[in-house]
Amino acid sequence: MEEIISLCQKLKDTHSLKFSEYLFILDTVTPDISEQIFTMAKKMTQEEFGQKIYRRGLIELSSYCKNDCYYCGLRASNTEAKRYRLSKEDILESCAYGYNKGFRTFVLQGGEDPYFSDELLSNIIETIKNKYPECAITLSLGERSFQSYKELKRAGADRYLLRHETITPTHYTKLHPRQLSLDNRIECLNHLMELGFQVGTGIMVGSPFQTNDAIANDLVFIQKLRPHMIGIGPFLPHSSTPFRDKEKGSLSTTLLLISLCRLMDKTVLIPATTALCTLDTKGRELGILAGANVIMPNISPMSVRNKYMLYDNKVFTDEEKLEETLKAIGYSTSVARGDNRRHNNDL
Ligand code: 5AD
Repeated sequence: MEEIISLCQKLKDTHSLKFSEYLFILDTVTPDISEQIFTMAKKMTQEEFGQKIYRRGLIELSSYCKNDCYYCGLRASNTEAKRYRLSKEDILESCAYGYNKGFRTFVLQGGEDPYFSDELLSNIIETIKNKYPECAITLSLGERSFQSYKELKRAGADRYLLRHETITPTHYTKLHPRQLSLDNRIECLNHLMELGFQVGTGIMVGSPFQTNDAIANDLVFIQKLRPHMIGIGPFLPHSSTPFRDKEKGSLSTTLLLISLCRLMDKTVLIPATTALCTLDTKGRELGILAGANVIMPNISPMSVRNKYMLYDNKVFTDEEKLEETLKAIGYSTSVARGDNRRHNNDL
């Protein structure tokens, strides 16, 4: 008990732990200790960000994907998936809607869809940046070449989200078909860092075949990479994937990992993910009270919102309720862009 808390204190003070120390926490933590860790992480978050939560407007560009990840509802061989692509006009309309609602970051997310060429994306990014120069653009479009990332950065993209999913090679191959390689994914993350993006990575908690060893490896990887954002959400099964019958990820482990990532890095931006909100109706609040400081409501056109289904029963944020929910736990949303202050200013 004492030992876990002192390891957490060490993580907070030194920003790192050894593999064996993370593993010890994961193997021996109890609900009581978890609560204490959530509180430590919450305090640390409040010292850095106050009781303000950044909002990112999520625009889901395309539900087409050339990949076939075993866990994902958008996988290419899911013939039941509803496929769509947003036009440039649709995307601009979503931005206008989001801007009026006070969003100052737009996240363009999609499956790996070759239709969205560098040329098309650059054009869209430049147009958004011209119209909303004070807004940040985050991309979440999977693995692309160095040249492609470079071109998207040049066009004005500020940030890029690419979860590594798992850093353990044997685990990676159980989640992905042979065409996808962990090495390539890590290379992509390194390229994004090198190009000066604010970079986000992360994992699914409780993905099939995940062990505490794998999670401890992920934490060591994250602390070495020092990403600007970390996305951590529970795995949730999708009925038209090979993992349809697999167990969903646990709430308590998801919250614990949010807290450990916070203790590792006070400046990092951590969302209370949609998957967490889908797993538990109180997911958003619990995530925030464990160290998350970002929410990412969907601002895609209504007509496509139920077609971007990574997992079953995905929930949608009710904009009106959001502020109320946050207020009930003493928080409110920020209208700032919410860049990581470590970016361009290495702390
Ligand atoms: N459950 C939870 N998260 C998922 N993702 C993909 N499929 C699922 C699922 N079934 C996550 C992956 C991906 C991100 C966009 O969504 O981590 O990186």
